[in-house]
Amino acid sequence: MRMVDLIAIKRDGGELSTAEINWFITEYTTGSIPDYQVSALLMAIYLRDMNRRETVDLTMAIARSGDQLDLHDVAPFVVDKHSSGGVGDKTTLVVQPIVAACGVPVGKMSGRGLGSSGGTLDKMESFTGWSCQMGLDQFKAQLADIGLVLAGQTAKLAPADGKLYALRDVTGTVASTPLIAGSIMSKKLAAGADAIVLDVKVGSGAFMPTVEAAKELAQIMVNIGNDAGRKTAALISDMNQPLGNAIGNALEVKEAIDTLHGGGPQQFWAHVVDISAYMLLLAGKATTIEEAKELASEVRENGAAFQKFREMVVAQGGDVRQVDDPSLLSQARYVEPILAPRTGTIASMDTGEIGWSAVHLGAGRLVKTDKIDHAVGFVLPCAVGDSFKEGDEIGTVHANDMDKLEKARAEIIEAIVWSDEPVAPLPHSYGVID
Ligand code: URA
Repeated sequence: MRMVDLIAIKRDGGELSTAEINWFITEYTTGSIPDYQVSALLMAIYLRDMNRRETVDLTMAIARSGDQLDLHDVAPFVVDKHSSGGVGDKTTLVVQPIVAACGVPVGKMSGRGLGSSGGTLDKMESFTGWSCQMGLDQFKAQLADIGLVLAGQTAKLAPADGKLYALRDVTGTVASTPLIAGSIMSKKLAAGADAIVLDVKVGSGAFMPTVEAAKELAQIMVNIGNDAGRKTAALISDMNQPLGNAIGNALEVKEAIDTLHGGGPQQFWAHVVDISAYMLLLAGKATTIEEAKELASEVRENGAAFQKFREMVVAQGGDVRQVDDPSLLSQARYVEPILAPRTGTIASMDTGEIGWSAVHLGAGRLVKTDKIDHAVGFVLPCAVGDSFKEGDEIGTVHANDMDKLEKARAEIIEAIVWSDEPVAPLPHSYGVID
């Protein structure tokens, strides 16, 4: 086979065969096809799309590009979750200990920040000493021991996705339904979970701009999961405003701990309960979603979920004093208010731009080698539909550099659209596909 022929087929709107997709993924993983040809194919897929059969073939080929874990020797039934990426999305930090505290093992491989969306591993590394690096033996031992692991993706698990993702990130080909489905589901299938809850984000801070597009992506991923024998459900959740108030690594960790203690923003807790409940339902811990929600609330109230989180930080080398007293996490030198530029009601937020603004402050990476500043970011306790008077504080910027602070403050003001009319608050969810 020749890569140039595959590119031409897709460029002209044709269909790639199963054999062609398998060949391309195998050869790219072993380094036999150059990035420039794969970039051309990715762009052709982005523009021409893939049908269901091609998307499934792509997913399975990526899943087979490395190891495929079987965790049943340490846990009879493992659940996993995956978010398609968002701003202020610290859901895993709260959901994972809640589900584990209910007796369902959660072995999760998470990612780093990507573009304007933050990454769970970057957030967790706000704890001094915490590490996501571990071999499969340690992963399994911790899963057996405390029922909770948060690891980095190993080079051996879906390695084709690692290579493809890095290329998509710099070739403008991330926001493609078959490429996102293949990327997410290949990792989930290879990581060995028996049940998978997908958190598909929609809106100005997500890869999917409309509910319709998000539902289509969700349906494809749910079909792939169920066909592979994994119980799969997808929640369509809002990303037209940041999730919770905090954006930025240590700030989000503080908000997550606050939430585990029974506080935190209501909108964030509602989302956490939804995701946790579906994980518990698929794991057979409850027979109805209401019962599952009650279980999730119970382990927050009795402190069991917080204890699980604490155990995980300890097991992975983190400074537990920072869990018990989050004020010991790194703090920004400057904390300044963001003031409402006018009297009115928040009509909309460009959430992607808010995410980028956090990246500019140092909370994320512009290039792969950038070092994260864990202390910086925003706390924005304001939402679409909230009304303010001119000069009211709508949030704070946390920065270690005064020039960056001023720029970020201006970017936040710029990202918010105001109205003189009342505006309805946004729902946190647009339904479930299962
Ligand atoms: N998350 C992933 O893992 N892959 C994508 O393509 C998008 C979000």
